[in-house]
Amino acid sequence: MAKKTKPGGNPNIVSLWPTTLLAKRFAHYQKVNPALLELFYQHRDREQRSPQQAYASKDDLLSQYPLHQELNELAEFISQGIVEVAREANKGLWRNDEKVRVNITGLWFQISNAHSFHEMHVHGNCSWSGVYYVRSADCATSPQSNPGQQPNGVTRFYGPHVEHMAGGFGDYGNLYLHDNSWDSFPEDGKLCIFPSHLKHMPFPYNGKEDRVIVSFHAQVFNASGTQSYDYGFNN
Ligand SMILES: [Fe+2]
Repeated sequence: MAKKTKPGGNPNIVSLWPTTLLAKRFAHYQKVNPALLELFYQHRDREQRSPQQAYASKDDLLSQYPLHQELNELAEFISQGIVEVAREANKGLWRNDEKVRVNITGLWFQISNAHSFHEMHVHGNCSWSGVYYVRSADCATSPQSNPGQQPNGVTRFYGPHVEHMAGGFGDYGNLYLHDNSWDSFPEDGKLCIFPSHLKHMPFPYNGKEDRVIVSFHAQVFNASGTQSYDYGFNN
């Protein structure tokens, strides 16, 4: 959807296709996070994996622990966040008072250290994805926190302009193309929700304590269950 220039801006300019993300802190993180850490380490240790190895649980954590109070509190906070960001992204398309239902299709945790990371990727079969930082440990906290080095353990998101960087022409006229990524700096209790198609990469993490996160995918429906596009040509 095209967004026209803000009131007061140059009326000859049309700015297209903004990207909408949500970043906010869970008010109850100081209560919830210690309980999650206990659950996650117990879960991992049952599998007798090496503590030095990056660990990712299966993505059916909510089914495995349906009665875990803090996990359910986090899932509710995540669902509310998805509605908040999806309502903003779909402004003008959703009716104002429209009730929607969030289906968290996958939720899992990851424990990382020893420079572990994932390559740049996107998520399929969902409209919104996200990360919740349970323990940010020694992750970079700002662009200035590791001068001259890659930012430890941040989540980096890449905008569409990144496609035009490799081998592309660069001059002063397209300096804006360099503004093609955004970093989410981990903080305990911070939730970051993003469109599932957005390219992203968790940067390598190394620290005294492990970096622990929850990741998730979700679909969103309205009352009629509308999930996908209507491909008819005669509407
Ligand atoms: Fe991801």
